[in-house]
Amino acid sequence: MIVNMKEVLTGGTAIPQFNINNLEWAKFILEECEIKKNPVILGVSESAIEYMGGYHVVVKMIEGLLQDLKITIPVVVHLDHGKSYEACLNAINAGFTSVMIDASNYELNKNIRITKSVVEYAHKRNVTVEGEIGFIGLATTEPIYTEVKNALKFVKETNIDALAPAVGSLHGLYINEPKINFERIKEIKEVTKVPIVLHGGTGIPDIILKKAIQAGISKVNINTALQVTWSKEVRTFLNENPDVYDPRKIIGSGKNSIKKVIDNYLEILNGANE
Ligand code: 13P
Repeated sequence: MIVNMKEVLTGGTAIPQFNINNLEWAKFILEECEIKKNPVILGVSESAIEYMGGYHVVVKMIEGLLQDLKITIPVVVHLDHGKSYEACLNAINAGFTSVMIDASNYELNKNIRITKSVVEYAHKRNVTVEGEIGFIGLATTEPIYTEVKNALKFVKETNIDALAPAVGSLHGLYINEPKINFERIKEIKEVTKVPIVLHGGTGIPDIILKKAIQAGISKVNINTALQVTWSKEVRTFLNENPDVYDPRKIIGSGKNSIKKVIDNYLEILNGANE
């Protein structure tokens, strides 16, 4: 069943957002989460949407997979890092049940204005909105932590459903161990009272990820980990099978490695608060 983000971020355990790139990835993720009976958020970036053909392709593809694979778990179709009001509108109008508006590159008041306008449009259509405040960079950048008072102002004035603050995680592969600010997660969660999202879920050591969830993280975004494991597996397969040209065999050779990574995250996320 395709639902919005509110229906899966109900507290208790943290919910994963796995990003998809194509039909196969969506299928692998849905199959594995269905086996584990774990609700899942399928994150789709603007560039992945463009790659797959467009917003409608993504929605129809996921709807078709749910129907034909007889998926029973709650699934959220979520725009990841929507960079503009227009991108969010396109996603909502095509049937996405959740959008992230990432206007974090603007100063706070402009970020609030853009985010609020997306929320107004989305909520009328039962679509949930994630907003970002602060700067979640790449492994080459030093973390700048979101201030609690700014987080509170942002949530109050925008009425978002989930907040992605900068708490020390970064996108892509880490060069050094991430400097997650657990206390800041706790404080932001306590004052804003909305689900807090951790971006850059790849490469965070298990124990640190668990501590972040215990501090108040409700949603963990994972993208690079799936790409790294899939490409490694496919490369090995191609080296070992130079005569294979069937694309289904080539793309499919990375399936088990993706499923293993998913299982590992589900175990961490579900075990964190036990
Ligand atoms: P990683 O690619 O580091 O896992 O981050 C994913 C993410 O935060 C998507 O929004």
